[in-house]
Amino acid sequence: MSGAETKHPKHPEAIKARAEAVLARYKPLIADWDAFLDVLVRPKPTCIVANAARLDRDRLAGLLAGGPADLTPVPWDRAALRVPADARPGTWWAFLAGLYQVQEEASLLPTAMLDPQPGERVLDLCAAPGGKAARIAMAVGPEGTVIANEKEPRRLSAVRDKMKRLGLTNLTSTVHDGGDYPLEAGAFDRVLVDAPCTSEGTKFRQGAGYQGSEPEFLSWIAGQQAALLRRAAQLVKPGGRVVYATCSFAPEENEAVVDRVLAELDGGLQPVAVRPPGLQPAAPVASWGGRAFDPGVQAGLRLWPHTHRTGGFFAIAFDKPADAPPPAAPPSRHVDAWSGDPRQWIGPVLEKFDIAGDPLAGLRVIERGDDLQLVAAGHSAPAKPAPVSTGVPARRARNRTPKPSTALALMVGGGARARVVEVTAAQRDAYQRRQPIQPAPDQLAACQARAHLSDALRGAQDGGGDGMAGPAQGYVILRYRGVPLGVGFLRPGPPAEIESQFPRAWKL
Ligand SMILES: C[S@@+](CC[C@H](N)C(=O)[O-])C[C@H]1O[C@@H](n2cnc3c(N)ncnc32)[C@H](O)[C@@H]1O
Repeated sequence: MSGAETKHPKHPEAIKARAEAVLARYKPLIADWDAFLDVLVRPKPTCIVANAARLDRDRLAGLLAGGPADLTPVPWDRAALRVPADARPGTWWAFLAGLYQVQEEASLLPTAMLDPQPGERVLDLCAAPGGKAARIAMAVGPEGTVIANEKEPRRLSAVRDKMKRLGLTNLTSTVHDGGDYPLEAGAFDRVLVDAPCTSEGTKFRQGAGYQGSEPEFLSWIAGQQAALLRRAAQLVKPGGRVVYATCSFAPEENEAVVDRVLAELDGGLQPVAVRPPGLQPAAPVASWGGRAFDPGVQAGLRLWPHTHRTGGFFAIAFDKPADAPPPAAPPSRHVDAWSGDPRQWIGPVLEKFDIAGDPLAGLRVIERGDDLQLVAAGHSAPAKPAPVSTGVPARRARNRTPKPSTALALMVGGGARARVVEVTAAQRDAYQRRQPIQPAPDQLAACQARAHLSDALRGAQDGGGDGMAGPAQGYVILRYRGVPLGVGFLRPGPPAEIESQFPRAWKL
């Protein structure tokens, strides 16, 4: 039903001409039409967002200083750094080490407006590929719960990938039509509706193929969007918050959807103006196609691409009145068939790495398929809809060789004090390309230096020797500037070699 997209050369002038024709109806809304069209045809800068569980923005900037691109802080988001348009931050070593995720600047906005707090239970009703759900998971922290729902099961693999790389033990994914999300899932402190849309704000970056959306498609998608917002209003607790966002310019998908749902809910959701400081959004459209919208719609905001060199965006926050009736259905809680103590099930895998402190504190372990998964102890998934994936795989359930997963190494490897190889930049790049690396004698010596280990453990690791022998064959954790990269298999040789165990699926 959507407008056909045909192959078309990616020539800026052709894209601009097509954008001008397709988007002409918005001309009265946009003060600087030429600047708007110009930005649509040029590559756009993006952002990297520090993984709050691992480091802050300053440390991330320090690790990447002198690297492939100049980074500048996003003034209105304390975890985000702007990256030039020609950079490819999804290929940098620190991305593969789970230190950040890549998000376009406009995409930071809905989560900022949702303002999730530590310990809260939050639903992302339309979550794939999962950038915003991941950011929410960082904000609610280990005591919180995020449910990342998606209608298209195949789109969940991107969410799962983020869970592993970023170590999101407080996130469960579900597959369901968000417009009909089961109320048995229980009430949420906050619900994000990052709605499916015509994505006009992003279409012209892909070339000049987009020919606009048919009116039938627009009206169908607006119906879907209204259903999602309506359901979010039912699922949020009294006093809780809902944010509705799209990356479309069309008032039919934005102001008109909000206007329609506000009228239906009759005070059930109250628009609240949230303006992240430092951002200069435009006001929503007050009327369109001869229809004046509810004044509450003005609490929302629009980002036109040329204001901040972002994608186009509309977003609005609502609070549910604190005295609204509580949800009728009590929350259904998913109970895992088996849930164990990670010290018993994951502890032995980590023993030889002598991790400082208690890296498994606040976690429990569950079995999912072939994996033992680490899940935040306070995480509470609904029984309905059933969880698809929860937490982070730590090791194979039935594998007798005690091999930590890459995700586990990224989570806890920073504290490892034994069987760690600190690698050079060239070795780091080879390792992440799954190539073998040859450790130098001093790297091997440092790998076995673990004076604080008990004699018993030292002897066991070195095959009962006197502790002076080189490190024994087996798994090691590789680190670059103290940042864990993953797991390798050391063959002490000579010549010594470390086989990269970096996940095939993550290799560039
Ligand atoms: C704009 S994208 C979400 C982007 C995501 N929040 C992020 O930050 O990565 C919208 C998503 O909603 C999904 N979707 C479409 N219809 C849906 C529905 N009825 N219920 C739930 N998800 C839906 C789409 O498959 C798509 O993955």
